[in-house]
Amino acid sequence: MEGCNNLHSLLLFFHFSLLVFTPVIFRVTQNILLNSIIMNYLSGKHVLLGVTGGIAAYKSAELIRQLREQGAGVRVVMTRGACEFITPLTLQALSGHPVHMELLDSGAEAAMGHIELARWADVMLVAPATADFMARLVQGRADDLLAAVCLACEAPLAVAPAMNRVMWESPATRDNVSVLQDRGVRIMGPAEGPQACGETGPGRLLEPDALVSALSGLFNSGALAGCRVLVTAGPTREAIDPVRYISNRSSGRMGFAVAGAAAEAGAQVTLVSGPVSLEAPAHVERINVETAQAMYDRVLELAAGIDIFISVAAVADYRPASVAEQKIKTSTDTITLELQRNPDILAAVAALPGGPFTVGFAAETEGLESHARGKLEAKGLDMIAANEVGSQLGFETEDNALQVFWRGGSVTLARTGKNRLARQLIATLAERFTISRKRDKVVNIMEPHAKDSA
Ligand code: CTP
Repeated sequence: MEGCNNLHSLLLFFHFSLLVFTPVIFRVTQNILLNSIIMNYLSGKHVLLGVTGGIAAYKSAELIRQLREQGAGVRVVMTRGACEFITPLTLQALSGHPVHMELLDSGAEAAMGHIELARWADVMLVAPATADFMARLVQGRADDLLAAVCLACEAPLAVAPAMNRVMWESPATRDNVSVLQDRGVRIMGPAEGPQACGETGPGRLLEPDALVSALSGLFNSGALAGCRVLVTAGPTREAIDPVRYISNRSSGRMGFAVAGAAAEAGAQVTLVSGPVSLEAPAHVERINVETAQAMYDRVLELAAGIDIFISVAAVADYRPASVAEQKIKTSTDTITLELQRNPDILAAVAALPGGPFTVGFAAETEGLESHARGKLEAKGLDMIAANEVGSQLGFETEDNALQVFWRGGSVTLARTGKNRLARQLIATLAERFTISRKRDKVVNIMEPHAKDSA
């Protein structure tokens, strides 16, 4: 009888554990899965979240929490209406930054004005977006902070509508949605279901996890899906003696941004980096090297198996002909260092038979196009991205501008943050790469006929 009681208690305990722990296990598993699927595209991204005045504004708290969990930096702009539904203090605590509300607040503008906020964003999401806010967006209004930031922002803009189903289905809202879509605004949702007003239908704000996943998808263009990409970045260091070296001002930021953008585009990316204090972008395999020779050795080891080589590194053209074994003592007024040419990594990869699509970088102080095109030909490249150095452009800056050249064409990528610029460069590169692949296929098909007729 006692054994029976014990068995009964054990079963009860098992039953109770199942009831209590199953939802917890489910939630944890769901979070792990969600993290593994989307983390890499939002990690390190700047999300500017606009919150407008609707009952669904309470969900923005959970949305911010989930975005930060994915590694995104979040800044919040609230309309006055939104502050009636959720307090700025809550969103400040969750985002870790003061919430922005007023356009004409000199203190707030001095700290981070509407233009800085717009520039800071990698993506902008308005969630929830009321019918009124979408109408104002269509009109291009700039009479409150959120509308002004939307107007000033070059980053992709996404809008997650939330409203009563009749408002959503009204001809005015339908027209506004279609105008916004034509302008490239991503409309996320709404979902269908029971609404706060007691009705049921379309107009519910998408749940935070669906919004996080949709937002993450914006960074995954798939333009280089299945491609193996090798990127070099940063400066190289050429030792003079055990404590001194020759190097340059490259921060590595552009190369890291290019590697990150290639990974976002679906490529399998290896980054060979000189000494820099940057974290590798998500989904990128990083190999650290110090000298130009070491970079050359690693790149040539890896080059056989890749589709695209992007040479962003500011490789030292020369190294000391010999490295002193001991620290050189300060004894004379002048000192002469004999320098020896380093191997040209990019030219060597471009010369490989059946080698990858090669992209070079050129930093020029004058004659940008002629020098860049000269390098394109001299090194046998497929594409070259040139930028002016000096006048606060290029090295050690957050922003950059590029002119990209290939045989028979060019494109100018205007000055913007290095991450956005890198995404634009990868989009251009993916287009050129696809064209060159198609051309190669045509040549392969044509060749047997050419032989036949010979
Ligand atoms: N590069 C390289 N290996 C080198 C030197 C340069 O792979 N030893 C690559 C850079 O990564 C860049 C491109 O070549 O993609 C252009 O580099 P740059 O230094 O501007 O060109 P140079 O040919 O060295 O010409 P100059 O310094 O005279 O401008």
